[in-house]
Amino acid sequence: MTSNELRQKFLDFFEEKGHKVIPSASLVPENDPSVLFTTAGMHPLVPYIMGEAHPKGKRLTDSQKCIRTDDIEEVGDKVHHTFFEMLGNWSFGDYFKEDAIKYSYEFLTDKKWLGIDKEKLAVTVFEGDKDAPFDEESYNIWVSLGISKGRIAKLGKKDNWWGPAGETGPCGSDTEMFYWSGKEKAPEKFDPEDERWVEIWNDVFMQYNKKADGTFEPLKQKNVDTGMGLERTLAVLNGVDDDYQTDLFLPITQKVEEISGKKYEENKKEFCIIADHLRAAVFAIDDGVVPSNKQAGYIIRRLIRRAIVKGHQLGINENFTVDFVDIVAKIYEGVYKLDTDTVKKELQSEEEKFRKTLKLGLRMFEKTIGDAVGFGVVGSAVVGEEPKITGKESFDLYQTYGFPLELTKEIATEKGLKIDEKGFEEEFKKHQELSRTASAGMFKGGLADNSEASTKYHTAAHLLLAGLQDVLGDHVHQRGSNITPERLRLDFSHPDKLTDEERKAVEDWVNDKIEKKLEVHLDECDPKTAKSKGAEGEFIEKYGDRVKVYSIGGDLDSKDAISKEICGGPHIKNTSELGHFRIKNETSSSKGVRRIKAVLE
Ligand code: ALA
Repeated sequence: MTSNELRQKFLDFFEEKGHKVIPSASLVPENDPSVLFTTAGMHPLVPYIMGEAHPKGKRLTDSQKCIRTDDIEEVGDKVHHTFFEMLGNWSFGDYFKEDAIKYSYEFLTDKKWLGIDKEKLAVTVFEGDKDAPFDEESYNIWVSLGISKGRIAKLGKKDNWWGPAGETGPCGSDTEMFYWSGKEKAPEKFDPEDERWVEIWNDVFMQYNKKADGTFEPLKQKNVDTGMGLERTLAVLNGVDDDYQTDLFLPITQKVEEISGKKYEENKKEFCIIADHLRAAVFAIDDGVVPSNKQAGYIIRRLIRRAIVKGHQLGINENFTVDFVDIVAKIYEGVYKLDTDTVKKELQSEEEKFRKTLKLGLRMFEKTIGDAVGFGVVGSAVVGEEPKITGKESFDLYQTYGFPLELTKEIATEKGLKIDEKGFEEEFKKHQELSRTASAGMFKGGLADNSEASTKYHTAAHLLLAGLQDVLGDHVHQRGSNITPERLRLDFSHPDKLTDEERKAVEDWVNDKIEKKLEVHLDECDPKTAKSKGAEGEFIEKYGDRVKVYSIGGDLDSKDAISKEICGGPHIKNTSELGHFRIKNETSSSKGVRRIKAVLE
């Protein structure tokens, strides 16, 4: 089975069951400052799990692009990835456990779909604890479908509970499906520890909201969130134990063989890292991430540079990352349309930058390691101490030679050396560049802060854009935004710095609308209609065929509305909730684009 067949079958099956197919959301979460990337299919759909109505209804299905970086160190074996696709079906307050499990079972076993022999399947269900009871219902449904009791394992929260990476947010027990990948007959008794049982699908029953105090309150509605990893499932269905031996990767690894002259079989680790990291970088750049020293940009820089170092270890000394863009685009032809020109431009520039210092950096590295080892072995001052790379050295590798700390750590570990991470952080703080500590919280991931404060800032951002258009002119459009519970940031097109008068006029305009206590309206329609009725929206080609439009001071049809914007929300109900609006600063963001940070007081 090809990846395209598997993806399509999944979507077709759920479409037949009354689900609407929605396109993958961006890898970069919109309006969500708490995570750097979309990490699961549910991520972009959280508002609907929490009870908002989705324009397409209560049953959806999709294949969502995801990036998870928790396992970044594991990439290099046969089954780990940073980028992957998650196939999912969704019920927002519609069907629950019974139908969800029956659909999963039918899709897996029916000859018309995957046709897996039920003797090759096993499942886990939640055993129950102080927060929620044993999931007897799911257990009984599996038994009624003919899964023998020996093939149903009951496990605790660690295995059978799912919530997003953050501490708070929607969550619930789940039931996971495993496929027997062994050559011999599957054992009667299911042992979840036996690696020949491969997890292929997870049905999550989202019915709680985990609160900051650690308690679980029931959600407004019961939801189903499922996730099937496309790469993994494709591999096991094709009888291979290596995801990199499927059509999603073969053209990439073949290209690495071609340009390095080395064989995949003999250099699996390097090949897998190059294939995974470049594929992830291509998709992330396509979704607007630019390699940099901050946040998502830093992760992508790290992936690209690590791929280049692995390429170097395979003997690739020329620029090569760009060669993979068309290959990746071809693999996904008809599924995702990639902006290959932009991706190539960014990769080219990043590789050129890094190659300037790569050789010198590696040489400095060898010298550093030589010194460290020599010192550790013979230096009397450090007898008994393990040799390590100092904070200053790893910082120089970072600062001067562009080696991300994690890469230095990895190369050091390969040579049996430790690095002084604390020393690195100290050097780092001294240089006050990228604040790794400040963004450390973000690397762990977490859920959208859908708190009241963020919601207010969403609405304030719409008012600000409308105010800028009123004061400066219709050439003003949004070029980017970022909301936290503490402030809003809006990038917009405008050639010059705002004068003090203009700035004051914008503030006054917004505060006037707040004082007027205007209602916020929500309409749904197709993007063309929204545009024709005057709604702002920059990414019209990326929207699905129905969008939400938030209007202030009148609905989408009204001539009195002072703002109309295509937006996923959420928003407050009335501008009177906002308090006083103040622009904190106004700076240049890039050529022709200004940036405002503003607060509500
Ligand atoms: N959200 C669930 C997962 O990521 C389906 O496994």
